[in-house]
Order: sequence, then C-alpha cells, then structure tokens
Amino acid sequence: MALKITVIGTGYLGATHAAAMAELGFEVLALDVVREKIEMLERGETPMYEPGLEELLRRHVPGFEGSSGRLRFTQDWAEVGAFGDVHFVCVNTPQKHGEYACDMSYVESAIGSLAPHLARPALVVGKSTVPVGSADRLARTIAELAPAGADAELAWNPEFLREGLAVQDTLHPDRIVVGVRSERAEALLRQVYETPIGEGSPFVVTDFPTAELVKTSANSFLATKISFINAMAEVCEAADGDVAKLAEAIGYDDRIGKKFLRAGIGFGGGCLPKDIRAFMARAGELGADQALTFLREIDSINMRQRGQMVELARQALGGGSFLGKRIAVLGATFKPDSDDVRDSPALNVAGQIHLQGGQVTVYDPKGMANARRVFPTLGYADSALEAVRGADAVLHLTEWQEFRELDPAQLGEVATTRLILDGRNALDPVLWRKAGWTYRAMGRPTA
Ligand code: UDX
Repeated sequence: MALKITVIGTGYLGATHAAAMAELGFEVLALDVVREKIEMLERGETPMYEPGLEELLRRHVPGFEGSSGRLRFTQDWAEVGAFGDVHFVCVNTPQKHGEYACDMSYVESAIGSLAPHLARPALVVGKSTVPVGSADRLARTIAELAPAGADAELAWNPEFLREGLAVQDTLHPDRIVVGVRSERAEALLRQVYETPIGEGSPFVVTDFPTAELVKTSANSFLATKISFINAMAEVCEAADGDVAKLAEAIGYDDRIGKKFLRAGIGFGGGCLPKDIRAFMARAGELGADQALTFLREIDSINMRQRGQMVELARQALGGGSFLGKRIAVLGATFKPDSDDVRDSPALNVAGQIHLQGGQVTVYDPKGMANARRVFPTLGYADSALEAVRGADAVLHLTEWQEFRELDPAQLGEVATTRLILDGRNALDPVLWRKAGWTYRAMGRPTA
C-alpha cells in the first residue's frame, strides 16, 4: 500500500516538502500550529515568494481545477498520528536571541506533541537543521512517549533546498542524505524517495551525527567559499587587481570550481549566517571549538563587506558625509528570486547609509513589503527608474535578472550623476560605461 505522509511545520521547508511529496504521488497531511498559515496554503497561496510553489500547491490542494486533492492540512495532532506512516518534521530552528546557539524549542515541541499520538508503526523524519547530537536526544523522547514503542522510530534527513530554487531542489535533489538506525527506516526512506533515486539522485546512508553534520558542514563550506573570494576582493582592492577575473581563472580548476565565487557584499538570509554560528556554538559545547575558529573569521569577513560597500559609496561620492546625497538602492532581498530580507546584506547597506544621513530610495522586484516592515524609515520606489530619479549614486545590491536587463541610457536620463556601484559584480561594466556611467565594483578598482 502507498505510504501516507505527514509534514509538520509549513514554513519554507515544510510547505515545499509537503507539495513535493504530493507531486511524487503520496497522500499528504500537513500540520502547522499557526492557523493563518494553513488557511493561506488551503487557498493555494504561500506566505513567501517562491517561484513555482503556488502552482505546485494548486496541483494538489483540493478545490483547484485538475487538483489531485492529495495535499490536506490540519491542526489536530491525533489526526496526524493516526494518518501517517512517515512524519517529516520541518519546523524552523532560528538563532537564539543574544546567542550563537540555535533555538530548538520548535523541534522539541513538534516531537513532544507528535510522539504521544504514535500508536502504530511510524517513522519520524527530522529535516530541520539542528545541532549535532539532537537526533539522538529526540529519539529518546520518542521512545519514552510513543505508545507504539519500538515501532515508532526516528531518522534524520537534512534538507539542502535553496530559496528561489526550492521546488526544483526538493523534487530533484542533488543528493539525499539519511541518518538511520535500522534497515526498516532506510527501506521506508528509499520508498519515499524512489522517484528522485530513480532519476539518479545519490542516496547516502549514514548515522545520526553524520547526517546532522552534513548539513552544517555543507553550509559552512559554502560560506567559506564566499568569504574566501571576498577576502581576495579586499586584496584586489589594495593591489589594483580584478577579483572577477581572478575568480574566473581559479574556477577553471575543477577542484575549485566556478560556483559560489562571486565577490560582493556577502551572504545573508535565514540559513548561512545562523547555521555557521550555531555550528560554532555546538562545537564549543563538544569541546571541539578550535576546529571551527576559522568560521569566526568567515563570519567577520562577511560582515565587513557590508561596511566596505558603504565606504566604497562614500569614496565614490567624494569622500565626505552622506548628508544631502540621494542614493538609489537596487535590491533589498538577500538574494534574487526571493522576497526574503532576513539578514539581507542589501538592506543592511541601505540602512547604514540612511543612518549616516543619506537619502536612500530602495526598489526591489519582490522584497518591498518585507523590507518596509523591517526598515520603515527608508524611502521606497515602485520601479528601478523611480528609485534612480535624481540619484547621486546607484547601488546595485541584489542581483535580480531585472537589474541586468535595465537600460543604462534610460536610467542615465533621470539620474543626477551617472555613478553605478555594483555590490554583486553582476552588471556588465561595458554596457554601463557606453551609456556614460562611472562603473565601480567591489574588488575591481581598475576594471
Ligand atoms: C543556503 C544553502 O545554499 C542551501 O543549500 C541550504 O539548504 C540553505 O542555505 P540559501 O540561503 O537559499 O541557501 O542561499 P544561497 O543561494 O546559498 O545564497 C546565500 C547567500 O550567499 C546569498 O546572500 C547570496 O547572495 C550569497 N552569495 C552566493 C554570494 O555572495 N556569492 C556567491 O558566489 C554565491
């Protein structure tokens, strides 16, 4: 008989995972403790902008034309316990206030609420990013609370989805990693992921701690790559080098590779910054903090980029104060194809310039509402053209396709000064210069 699947937590990860499981053919019941979230999803809407996700939801949420009806929602833990053969825990693990460690309370409360309702054989699968050692502890909670006893088991299956590509990453993962303690758990997960495994996604079977560590170490590696190239950008600034050429040239070495070597204002978002901090905190608890002291440097290189962008803008404007200067900021989200402004380098730079007296006007294709909420005192415009009108400098801070397609000549007509500063090394300098702009990018003083 086909497996029945539940998904606990319908945020970014859970909503996408639930819709993807329905797409793979399973009956899915998803639970969230926040009623409004569920009501939105039942209307086929998502609380965040994620390309393709609403379409995927509407293919499976009942009530839409042609829908499979396989994806339903509830707030009833007993219903979840009775329904599922496999329960995916997809709640978030944010950074604790005032600490590096991550807040495990949502995971703990999800497991604590679910376990007493596990009366029949079931596999609970953690997908949240957690400190190593958590799965072992949560397995003990399940063993204590589940009426099914040893028939209720835990597995850990970290998620690697990228915002903006969440649907694709979930349906066609580049690897599936499972931490399991029994052959039965492995077999169940092979059944869940039969389609992607059939398409060639590697399936890596390991123990709990390794599965947990795969996720945090992957994110640490990615963060390290970005901070590495940003450190090279700093050296290029000092030595009149060109970090974009440097990245291209080292990237031809396939041991290094081209990806994640785009220098600029650095990484942000809901994952990389908090994950490397939580990893350091956990290593400290384990007495392995020395192994990860380099991550402190990765974090500080990253945070420094934001300040350097502000300085680059100040220098380009003559070196004085921002008072009386009009600055257009293109981009507010932490990356393109997302409306997420959590720890966004772009918004941080815009905010710093504003706080130093600059008149900042921000435009972002999808992040305006979230940006306004976080930073209501910044100026906002409804288009790039409106943001640029009257500007003494234009800062390109999130690399949306829309910004690469802008017509520099048209913008030049409305700007006060044709000065463009590329904080993402993503615009074409030749194009902008041809239209009479001064183009300056981070790590490329002479390019
Ligand atoms: C990341 C991981 O990639 C993903 O596997 C994990 O599951 C969650 O965390 P995400 O937060 O969506 O995903 O963003 P990602 O695409 O990794 O980008 C992170 C940040 O790095 C963005 O702010 C981006 O602009 C920046 N970045 C990326 C660079 O500055 N330079 C690069 O070369 C690449």
